[in-house]
Amino acid sequence: MTTPTAFRAFRIGQDDNRAHRAGLQTMDTDSLTPGEVLVRVAWSSVNYKDALAGTGKGKILRRYPLNGGIDLAGHVVASTDPAFREGDAVLCTGSGLSETLDGGYAEYARLPAAWTIPLPPGLSLREAMLLGTAGFTAALSLLRMLDNRQTPGLGPIAISGATGGVGMLAIDIFTRAGFEVHAISGKRDRFDVLRQLGARECIDRHELVFSGKPMDSARFGGALDNVGGPMLAGMLPLIAPYGNVATCGLAGSAELPTTVMPFIIRGVSLLGIASAGTARDIRETIWTRLAGDWKPAHMDLIGTREVDLDTLPSVFEGMLRGESFGRTVVRVGGG
Ligand SMILES: NC(=O)c1ccc[n+]([C@@H]2O[C@H](COP(=O)([O-])OP(=O)(O)OC[C@H]3O[C@@H](n4cnc5c(N)ncnc54)[C@H](OP(=O)(O)O)[C@@H]3O)[C@@H](O)[C@H]2O)c1
Repeated sequence: MTTPTAFRAFRIGQDDNRAHRAGLQTMDTDSLTPGEVLVRVAWSSVNYKDALAGTGKGKILRRYPLNGGIDLAGHVVASTDPAFREGDAVLCTGSGLSETLDGGYAEYARLPAAWTIPLPPGLSLREAMLLGTAGFTAALSLLRMLDNRQTPGLGPIAISGATGGVGMLAIDIFTRAGFEVHAISGKRDRFDVLRQLGARECIDRHELVFSGKPMDSARFGGALDNVGGPMLAGMLPLIAPYGNVATCGLAGSAELPTTVMPFIIRGVSLLGIASAGTARDIRETIWTRLAGDWKPAHMDLIGTREVDLDTLPSVFEGMLRGESFGRTVVRVGGG
């Protein structure tokens, strides 16, 4: 494979007044952040974090400038680490991409070998990015809940932010793993699709009224929350004894106005989900499961949009307005 002298990248930086600047630029591979594995990027994806980084509305980058994109999949062009050879199909999610390292919104990226995952058999590069951080996060939530003795017998799993990337993938993956899923969503017009993914019940979040009491009748065996704030606080008193709540996101709020009662009376566990820094052995386990028994059965319904690098800004804005529906994959080089 030949390495080009110049390639395109969606680069995020600051101007002299430290104001946010982002857009397509031309750069060369020598300017990329260091790493042992040079990758020609085929596909990336859009996550909520990418929208925060790309618009400057959240402080995601810890150095400037960097190429955006917390996910990427592609082929190795060159590697100084013998574990990878030219032509290998690889992926990387989180792991500092678009935080401290140049990310996947560029035709080339350099990855630390420690964070480079061989594409598991059973997934194409595009499918890996349809899953991306969102699918990895949904599966990490399931893994942590199972490790903490979550069983289908405890009751249904509530999934909030259900039409988002994490939400739709989680409905499919938890259903595949044998759980009954109740989807909580603000988009009533999408309930049909949520049911096709496996949701047994769909709850309109605009009509959902929590009692505000520290404890309430148990309604769910556990939950995966993408929303935070009153949604997360409202679900905790509804969880059955020794159920788990995976706290993934803050699409509604970063606050958590709650009491200790669900934890000390019912033994409910609040499991923190931080996909970006997950240890390598867990990463490999999750990607193997995502390519195998946890591979979503409805990838075609969940991958709702394909865009290219030029279209990214408009995708970010819609996402931050709460308009997401499923996953957006980004065609970088394709293939
Ligand atoms: N912890 C981690 O490692 C990790 C990894 C990935 C993502 N996340 C976080 O998880 C969340 C979801 O990520 P995503 O990529 O799935 O985002 P997304 O595709 O934009 O989905 C977010 C969903 O949240 C709901 N929502 C949006 N604004 C809301 C509001 N103001 N109040 C209540 N619900 C609202 C909407 O679902 P409905 O309309 O269906 O209700 C929306 O579709 C984000 O906060 C993201 O930062 C965390």
